[in-house]
Amino acid sequence: MQRNILITGGAGFIGNHVVRLFVNKYPEYNIYNLDKLTYAGNLANLKDVENKPNYHFIKEDICNFESILNIFKQYNIDGVIHLAAESHVDRSIKDPFTFANTNIIGTLSLLQAAKNVWTDLENKLFYHVSTDEVYGALEMNNPRGGNEPGGGPFGDKFFTEQTKYNPHSPYSAAKASSDHFVRAFHDTYGLPVVISNCSNNYGPYQFPEKLIPLFINNIRNRKSLPVYGKGENVRDWLYVEDHARAIDIIFHKGQKGETYNIGGFNEWKNIDIIKVIISTVDRLLGRKENEDIDLITYVTDRAGHDLRYAIDSTKLKTELGWQPSLQFEEGIEKTVRWYLDNQDWLDNITSGEYEKYYEIMYKDR
Ligand code: NAD
Ligand code: DAU
Repeated sequence: MQRNILITGGAGFIGNHVVRLFVNKYPEYNIYNLDKLTYAGNLANLKDVENKPNYHFIKEDICNFESILNIFKQYNIDGVIHLAAESHVDRSIKDPFTFANTNIIGTLSLLQAAKNVWTDLENKLFYHVSTDEVYGALEMNNPRGGNEPGGGPFGDKFFTEQTKYNPHSPYSAAKASSDHFVRAFHDTYGLPVVISNCSNNYGPYQFPEKLIPLFINNIRNRKSLPVYGKGENVRDWLYVEDHARAIDIIFHKGQKGETYNIGGFNEWKNIDIIKVIISTVDRLLGRKENEDIDLITYVTDRAGHDLRYAIDSTKLKTELGWQPSLQFEEGIEKTVRWYLDNQDWLDNITSGEYEKYYEIMYKDR
């Protein structure tokens, strides 16, 4: 079936993997990548698909309602996969207004445009991509040694689709608000929507302000590794292409009005993952084993730092048949190799404005 799909935030980290998957897998779809190209958006991430006949780029801000409305009409958009957002927790602590504007008002503007233009709701879908951070933080208790719900390595509680929202950072508060707006448009206007909440992603093309690419780059350049607090916080890591595959499955098979949690059943304490990254980078660069371990520098904790995230993605597995394809050991090796093989990509980003940001961000730490 021919379709006209608007993917927002397609020049960002997860977005470029989603765009690539849809452009290559569905040549019969027109894929419209709409992105404002903030500091986090980079068209170099999409070099391999930019000349495909079914790929189109639109530079626009999701908050510009009139433009968004015209884009829906002009391109006869019948599906939306909404990823555009401000996504970095540390930035949200410094500048919450930008996060409220993009993540809440931007989402509202897309919803309102869809509602206005989609008079016939047949074969329409508004897919909102969200985060596990909306659920708040889990305790560390009753570790059971396994990695499934009821027996996690750091606690017995997992986030399910029924977990009450309890966001702590301006980023997650804004994402939670956007999720509520999406559900409100479904319940009030009957807009066909679906939401997914995913755990931490890692892989190629992630902006190097996030833990994994930042630390790979710092080890490469022998810069210190700022570990927040004691490095005891736990995150559940998923390879980004597995997230993109989940989005594909949910977009095509998900039930309207439903929410699906996406996660890797792959919890790690920050300090342990950092040690894996150091040993992998050192090995791949031919340095002595753990030569760079002393780069670890414990710094002031992130304000409101959530202790533990762990996603229960059983619903997605049992109802839609998705599960992660990559073991973490394989995924992290691929990821480190990618950043070391693509040093130009990293260097282009980490010069100029980013350098100034980095100094400001870490000057008190
Ligand atoms: P990112 O910061 O790498 O990319 C965001 C993209 O959105 C960029 O290309 C940016 O230019 C674009 N953008 C920002 N503001 C915009 C605006 N006003 N109008 C149009 N485009 C705009 O983010 P990411 O890590 O790829 O995350 C994508 C989505 O997935 C976000 O909604 C995020 O909340 C969610 N998510 C991320 C993770 C993760 O681990 N990275 C996990 C779960 C969910
Ligand atoms: O859980 C999903 C979320 O994962 C997404 O919604 C967010 O968009 C994404 O940025 C990510 O949020 P986190 O805050 O978990 O990711 P980040 O890479 O910033 O940090 C991961 C962990 O590492 C967190 O516990 C904070 C810690 N950290 C991070 C940085 C950047 C450090 O100790 N030092 C650092 O320099």
